[in-house]
Amino acid sequence: MRKKIVAGNWKMNKTFSEAEDLLFGIADALGNGRPDNVEVVVCPPALYLELANDVATEHNFRCGAQNMSEHESGAYTGEISAAMLQSAGVEFVILGHSERRTYFGENDELIGKKVAQAIRHELTPIYCCGEVLAEREAGKHFEVVEAQVTGALSGLDAKAFSKVVIAYEPVWAIGTGRTATPQQAQEMHAFIRSVLAKIFGQKAAGDTTILYGGSCNAGNAKELFANSDVDGGLIGGASLKADEFVKIVNSF
Ligand code: PGA
Repeated sequence: MRKKIVAGNWKMNKTFSEAEDLLFGIADALGNGRPDNVEVVVCPPALYLELANDVATEHNFRCGAQNMSEHESGAYTGEISAAMLQSAGVEFVILGHSERRTYFGENDELIGKKVAQAIRHELTPIYCCGEVLAEREAGKHFEVVEAQVTGALSGLDAKAFSKVVIAYEPVWAIGTGRTATPQQAQEMHAFIRSVLAKIFGQKAAGDTTILYGGSCNAGNAKELFANSDVDGGLIGGASLKADEFVKIVNSF
Protein backbone atom coordinates (compact mmCIF):
# COMPACT_ATOMS: atom_id res chain seq x y z
CA MET A 1 0.00 0.00 0.00
CA ARG A 2 1.34 3.39 -0.97
CA LYS A 3 1.82 5.52 2.13
CA LYS A 4 3.37 8.80 3.12
CA ILE A 5 6.46 8.21 5.25
CA VAL A 6 9.04 10.46 6.84
CA ALA A 7 11.97 8.43 8.17
CA GLY A 8 14.96 9.72 10.13
CA ASN A 9 18.33 8.07 9.58
CA TRP A 10 20.50 9.04 12.55
CA LYS A 11 23.55 7.25 11.12
CA MET A 12 26.39 6.91 13.67
CA ASN A 13 25.38 9.81 15.89
CA LYS A 14 24.29 10.39 19.51
CA THR A 15 25.38 8.94 22.86
CA PHE A 16 22.79 7.11 24.94
CA SER A 17 21.59 10.17 26.85
CA GLU A 18 21.53 12.28 23.69
CA ALA A 19 19.51 9.56 21.99
CA GLU A 20 17.03 9.60 24.87
CA ASP A 21 16.70 13.38 24.61
CA LEU A 22 16.13 13.22 20.86
CA LEU A 23 13.54 10.43 21.12
CA PHE A 24 11.54 12.23 23.79
CA GLY A 25 11.98 15.49 21.90
CA ILE A 26 10.47 13.90 18.81
CA ALA A 27 7.65 12.40 20.89
CA ASP A 28 6.88 15.83 22.41
CA ALA A 29 7.02 17.67 19.11
CA LEU A 30 4.77 15.07 17.43
CA GLY A 31 2.37 15.45 20.35
CA ASN A 32 1.86 19.11 19.42
CA GLY A 33 0.12 18.10 16.22
CA ARG A 34 0.96 16.09 13.14
CA PRO A 35 -0.79 14.96 9.97
CA ASP A 36 -2.38 11.59 10.73
CA ASN A 37 -1.79 10.19 7.25
CA VAL A 38 2.02 10.29 7.60
CA GLU A 39 3.95 7.40 9.09
CA VAL A 40 6.95 8.58 11.10
CA VAL A 41 9.94 6.25 11.37
CA VAL A 42 13.04 6.78 13.49
CA CYS A 43 16.18 4.76 12.64
CA PRO A 44 18.72 5.16 15.45
CA PRO A 45 21.92 3.13 15.89
CA ALA A 46 21.05 -0.50 16.74
CA LEU A 47 22.09 -0.09 20.36
CA TYR A 48 19.19 2.30 20.96
CA LEU A 49 16.49 0.39 19.10
CA GLU A 50 14.90 -1.18 22.15
CA LEU A 51 14.59 2.16 23.90
CA ALA A 52 13.43 3.80 20.69
CA ASN A 53 10.79 1.16 20.17
CA ASP A 54 9.40 1.71 23.68
CA VAL A 55 9.09 5.46 23.08
CA ALA A 56 7.74 4.91 19.57
CA THR A 57 5.03 2.52 20.73
CA GLU A 58 3.82 5.03 23.32
CA HIS A 59 3.85 7.95 20.91
CA ASN A 60 2.59 6.48 17.67
CA PHE A 61 5.72 6.40 15.60
CA ARG A 62 7.78 3.50 14.28
CA CYS A 63 11.35 2.27 14.51
CA GLY A 64 13.82 1.09 11.94
CA ALA A 65 17.34 -0.30 11.89
CA GLN A 66 20.02 1.12 9.58
CA ASN A 67 21.31 -2.24 8.37
CA MET A 68 21.11 -5.97 9.09
CA SER A 69 22.71 -9.26 8.09
CA GLU A 70 21.63 -11.29 5.09
CA HIS A 71 22.13 -14.46 7.20
CA GLU A 72 19.58 -16.09 9.44
CA SER A 73 21.84 -16.64 12.50
CA GLY A 74 25.20 -18.06 13.51
CA ALA A 75 28.89 -17.19 13.57
CA TYR A 76 28.80 -13.67 12.13
CA THR A 77 30.53 -11.59 14.80
CA GLY A 78 29.18 -8.08 15.08
CA GLU A 79 26.12 -8.67 12.94
CA ILE A 80 22.44 -8.25 13.75
CA SER A 81 19.80 -10.49 12.20
CA ALA A 82 16.34 -9.82 10.86
CA ALA A 83 14.92 -12.21 13.48
CA MET A 84 16.55 -10.16 16.25
CA LEU A 85 15.08 -6.94 14.89
CA GLN A 86 11.66 -8.54 14.53
CA SER A 87 11.79 -9.94 18.07
CA ALA A 88 12.62 -6.46 19.41
CA GLY A 89 9.53 -5.00 17.74
CA VAL A 90 11.42 -3.15 15.02
CA GLU A 91 9.33 -2.69 11.87
CA PHE A 92 11.63 -1.13 9.28
CA VAL A 93 15.20 -1.55 8.08
CA ILE A 94 17.20 0.73 5.78
CA LEU A 95 19.10 -1.40 3.25
CA GLY A 96 21.62 -0.48 0.60
CA HIS A 97 22.31 3.02 1.83
CA SER A 98 25.05 4.63 -0.28
CA GLU A 99 27.35 4.72 2.77
CA ARG A 100 26.99 0.92 3.07
CA ARG A 101 27.70 0.59 -0.64
CA THR A 102 30.73 2.92 -0.54
CA TYR A 103 32.41 2.10 2.79
CA PHE A 104 31.35 -1.51 3.28
CA GLY A 105 31.41 -2.75 -0.30
CA GLU A 106 27.72 -3.72 -0.45
CA ASN A 107 26.46 -4.46 -3.95
CA ASP A 108 23.02 -5.04 -5.42
CA GLU A 109 23.31 -8.81 -5.12
CA LEU A 110 24.07 -8.68 -1.40
CA ILE A 111 21.50 -5.98 -0.76
CA GLY A 112 18.91 -8.04 -2.65
CA LYS A 113 19.56 -10.92 -0.24
CA LYS A 114 19.12 -8.58 2.71
CA VAL A 115 15.85 -7.26 1.29
CA ALA A 116 14.49 -10.81 0.91
CA GLN A 117 15.67 -11.74 4.40
CA ALA A 118 14.01 -8.65 5.91
CA ILE A 119 10.71 -9.54 4.24
CA ARG A 120 10.92 -13.13 5.54
CA HIS A 121 10.92 -11.60 9.02
CA GLU A 122 8.09 -9.19 8.33
CA LEU A 123 10.30 -6.13 8.34
CA THR A 124 9.69 -3.34 5.83
CA PRO A 125 12.90 -2.76 3.88
CA ILE A 126 13.67 0.80 2.83
CA TYR A 127 15.76 0.07 -0.25
CA CYS A 128 18.11 2.94 -1.13
CA CYS A 129 19.30 3.69 -4.63
CA GLY A 130 20.84 6.70 -6.32
CA GLU A 131 23.62 7.83 -8.65
CA VAL A 132 26.89 9.59 -7.87
CA LEU A 133 27.62 13.02 -9.32
CA ALA A 134 29.86 11.78 -12.14
CA GLU A 135 27.07 9.45 -13.29
CA ARG A 136 24.55 12.28 -13.33
CA GLU A 137 26.95 14.58 -15.15
CA ALA A 138 27.53 11.86 -17.73
CA GLY A 139 23.74 11.54 -18.18
CA LYS A 140 23.79 8.00 -16.83
CA HIS A 141 21.61 8.51 -13.75
CA PHE A 142 18.53 6.73 -15.10
CA GLU A 143 20.59 3.77 -16.27
CA VAL A 144 22.37 3.50 -12.91
CA VAL A 145 19.21 3.66 -10.84
CA GLU A 146 17.43 1.19 -13.12
CA ALA A 147 20.32 -1.26 -12.68
CA GLN A 148 20.21 -0.87 -8.88
CA VAL A 149 16.45 -1.37 -8.68
CA THR A 150 16.47 -4.31 -11.07
CA GLY A 151 19.62 -5.86 -9.60
CA ALA A 152 18.39 -5.94 -6.01
CA LEU A 153 14.63 -6.32 -6.38
CA SER A 154 13.74 -8.22 -9.55
CA GLY A 155 14.19 -11.61 -7.83
CA LEU A 156 11.31 -10.90 -5.46
CA ASP A 157 7.85 -12.23 -6.17
CA ALA A 158 4.98 -9.75 -6.32
CA LYS A 159 3.81 -10.45 -2.77
CA ALA A 160 7.27 -9.94 -1.29
CA PHE A 161 7.81 -6.80 -3.39
CA SER A 162 4.61 -5.27 -2.03
CA LYS A 163 6.43 -4.85 1.33
CA VAL A 164 9.28 -2.78 -0.13
CA VAL A 165 9.69 0.97 0.30
CA ILE A 166 12.19 2.65 -2.01
CA ALA A 167 14.33 5.67 -1.17
CA TYR A 168 15.86 7.58 -4.06
CA GLU A 169 18.96 9.23 -2.64
CA PRO A 170 21.25 10.89 -5.19
CA VAL A 171 24.67 10.42 -3.60
CA TRP A 172 25.71 13.96 -4.53
CA ALA A 173 22.89 15.29 -2.38
CA ILE A 174 23.58 13.24 0.76
CA GLY A 175 25.02 15.38 3.54
CA THR A 176 26.15 18.04 1.06
CA GLY A 177 23.46 20.67 1.41
CA ARG A 178 22.89 20.31 -2.33
CA THR A 179 19.35 18.97 -2.62
CA ALA A 180 17.88 17.60 -5.83
CA THR A 181 15.42 20.09 -7.28
CA PRO A 182 11.77 19.09 -6.94
CA GLN A 183 11.79 18.50 -10.73
CA GLN A 184 14.83 16.22 -10.55
CA ALA A 185 13.24 14.25 -7.70
CA GLN A 186 9.86 13.95 -9.43
CA GLU A 187 11.47 12.91 -12.73
CA MET A 188 13.53 10.15 -11.10
CA HIS A 189 10.67 8.93 -8.89
CA ALA A 190 8.40 8.66 -11.93
CA PHE A 191 11.18 6.82 -13.75
CA ILE A 192 11.63 4.38 -10.83
CA ARG A 193 7.89 3.73 -10.93
CA SER A 194 8.14 2.97 -14.66
CA VAL A 195 10.96 0.50 -13.98
CA LEU A 196 8.88 -1.15 -11.25
CA ALA A 197 5.91 -1.34 -13.62
CA LYS A 198 8.02 -3.31 -16.11
CA ILE A 199 9.01 -5.82 -13.42
CA PHE A 200 5.96 -6.04 -11.17
CA GLY A 201 3.16 -4.44 -13.18
CA GLN A 202 1.47 -1.05 -13.19
CA LYS A 203 -0.65 -1.61 -10.09
CA ALA A 204 2.28 -2.71 -7.91
CA ALA A 205 4.35 0.24 -9.17
CA GLY A 206 1.56 2.66 -8.33
CA ASP A 207 1.24 1.17 -4.85
CA THR A 208 4.96 1.56 -4.02
CA THR A 209 6.06 4.21 -1.56
CA ILE A 210 9.06 6.11 -2.95
CA LEU A 211 10.91 8.46 -0.60
CA TYR A 212 13.39 11.16 -1.49
CA GLY A 213 16.63 11.52 0.50
CA GLY A 214 19.57 13.88 0.28
CA SER A 215 19.80 17.20 2.15
CA CYS A 216 16.05 17.27 2.69
CA ASN A 217 15.24 19.71 5.48
CA ALA A 218 12.45 21.81 6.97
CA GLY A 219 13.09 24.49 4.33
CA ASN A 220 12.74 22.34 1.21
CA ALA A 221 10.56 19.37 2.27
CA LYS A 222 7.26 20.99 1.29
CA GLU A 223 8.34 21.59 -2.31
CA LEU A 224 9.77 18.10 -2.62
CA PHE A 225 6.76 16.34 -1.06
CA ALA A 226 4.34 18.30 -3.28
CA ASN A 227 5.34 16.13 -6.27
CA SER A 228 2.94 13.36 -7.21
CA ASP A 229 5.57 10.60 -7.16
CA VAL A 230 7.37 11.73 -3.99
CA ASP A 231 5.77 9.96 -1.03
CA GLY A 232 7.98 11.34 1.72
CA GLY A 233 11.60 11.54 2.79
CA LEU A 234 14.54 9.71 4.25
CA ILE A 235 16.17 12.37 6.37
CA GLY A 236 19.77 12.29 7.65
CA GLY A 237 21.26 15.43 9.21
CA ALA A 238 17.92 17.17 9.73
CA SER A 239 16.57 14.17 11.68
CA LEU A 240 19.05 14.82 14.50
CA LYS A 241 17.06 17.80 15.78
CA ALA A 242 13.58 16.98 17.07
CA ASP A 243 11.91 20.23 16.03
CA GLU A 244 13.37 20.26 12.56
CA PHE A 245 12.50 16.60 11.99
CA VAL A 246 8.90 17.12 13.07
CA LYS A 247 8.67 20.25 10.88
CA ILE A 248 9.54 17.98 7.98
CA VAL A 249 6.78 15.56 9.04
CA ASN A 250 4.42 18.52 9.08
CA SER A 251 5.44 19.57 5.58
CA PHE A 252 2.75 17.34 4.10
P1 PGA B 1 21.12 13.84 4.60
O1 PGA B 1 21.22 12.24 4.57
O2 PGA B 1 19.69 14.20 4.84
O3 PGA B 1 22.02 14.25 5.74
O4 PGA B 1 21.60 14.33 3.27
C1 PGA B 1 20.19 11.45 4.00
C2 PGA B 1 20.57 10.01 4.09
O5 PGA B 1 21.75 9.69 3.94
O6 PGA B 1 19.71 9.13 4.31
